[in-house]
Amino acid sequence: MDKIIVRGGNSLQGEVKVSGAKNSVLPVLSATLLTPQKCIIENVPDLRDVRTMIEILRHLGVNVNFENGRLEVESGEFAGYQAPYDLVCTMRASICVLGSLLARKGRAEVSLPGGCVIGTRPIDLHLKGLKALGAEVNIEHGYIKANCKKLRGTRIYLGGPFGSSVLATANVILAAVLAEGETVIESAACEPEIVDLAEFINKMGGEIEGAGTPVVKIKGVNELKGTTHAVIPDRIEAGTYLVAGAITAGDVKVKGARYDHLGAVIDGLIVSGAELEIKEDEIRVRRDGKISALEVTTLPYPGFPTDMQAQFMSYLSLADGISIITEKIFPERFMHVGELNRMGADITLEGSTAVVKGVEKLSGAEVMASDLRASAALILAGLVAEGETVVSRVYHLDRGYQNMVEKLRSLGADIQRINN
Ligand code: EPU
Repeated sequence: MDKIIVRGGNSLQGEVKVSGAKNSVLPVLSATLLTPQKCIIENVPDLRDVRTMIEILRHLGVNVNFENGRLEVESGEFAGYQAPYDLVCTMRASICVLGSLLARKGRAEVSLPGGCVIGTRPIDLHLKGLKALGAEVNIEHGYIKANCKKLRGTRIYLGGPFGSSVLATANVILAAVLAEGETVIESAACEPEIVDLAEFINKMGGEIEGAGTPVVKIKGVNELKGTTHAVIPDRIEAGTYLVAGAITAGDVKVKGARYDHLGAVIDGLIVSGAELEIKEDEIRVRRDGKISALEVTTLPYPGFPTDMQAQFMSYLSLADGISIITEKIFPERFMHVGELNRMGADITLEGSTAVVKGVEKLSGAEVMASDLRASAALILAGLVAEGETVVSRVYHLDRGYQNMVEKLRSLGADIQRINN
């Protein structure tokens, strides 16, 4: 199994380019099932999750060609309706084929995604939305089995105990575009990835209004056509490199970082003492003073993203004072705490709140990545830790960061990937 070895101490300098957004391209790929015609998707990151989604589409009988960040997908009259366990279990986002399969085939069988290290991940909101549109949904033998004749538009309230749901909103949009009449989603997720999905579907001939706000209106259309679309840059990857610049007291330009997608992260960096220079398609981060302690609470967009919580914890573990990090999306998403403490951090957990007492320095250690964002957090900690940090189980990283080792090395990090 591969490991990443980081020798800490180098201050990062230079430019790094952000890849396309993983969490945009996955639902966009599902949307290609809504038309038999060819769709071209550009700016596609080469990630394990994207490869898994391509496998699911091929399993359904769809033609997919992926080369140099460009995907050609032509679903034609594909015959499949099943997303099997061996593919779905490696990637929860595969649940977003449910809405498209129902819309296009009137039938879907998608394996339940199963446990997840970031906490329980219910799917009740997905099912509630699809049932409201007229689907019959049952859970049998580990599969979600859904059928419908013709889906019908309706009003659907999609808020849950932790606020809106990104993929439930995507699933309902995907199911509603070809439904009869108008669907109104209330308490819809406002994440940029939902806006990107709606833009793609509208280019295909869909009629979606209000994406990016809590009320999304979808007028059903009879058919959609093929189109070309470039996915937005990955805001979480951008945020991760901004923290890399700040944590190493460096000077890093993150090309493709969009201020309008990163408000809460940028605010956290500024308040904690980093200097930011913001341009339309690029953000430069610098830091030469102390890191000030912060209070961070993760919330649905435009609040602070849960997908940046672990990376900020690494950063704040070196702050001057005590930071409080509260997780309001996935209250158990703290597997990285124990690993950061092995590196000398002083973090205690009280329920879904982490109390991070800033320490003078971190020290390199052997640590284990537990999930995608935790892997990134451990690498960030390794960049400033004294001595060598060895991160194992880095396959998690391959799910969501394209060429992270190469990108960090180009900024001057002493980092390598080994196979043993
Ligand atoms: N929730 C429910 N019922 C549901 C669905 C969700 O109660 O039916 C709850 C969840 O348990 C959670 C909250 O709603 O407390 C929000 O979860 P959401 O459904 O928005 O998460 P998701 O759509 O499954 C996406 C991203 C995650 C990201 C979350 C939150 C994709 C492919 N995944 O997941 O990304 O953390 O939104 O922003 O878009 C990652 O990239 O590392 C990652 C985990």
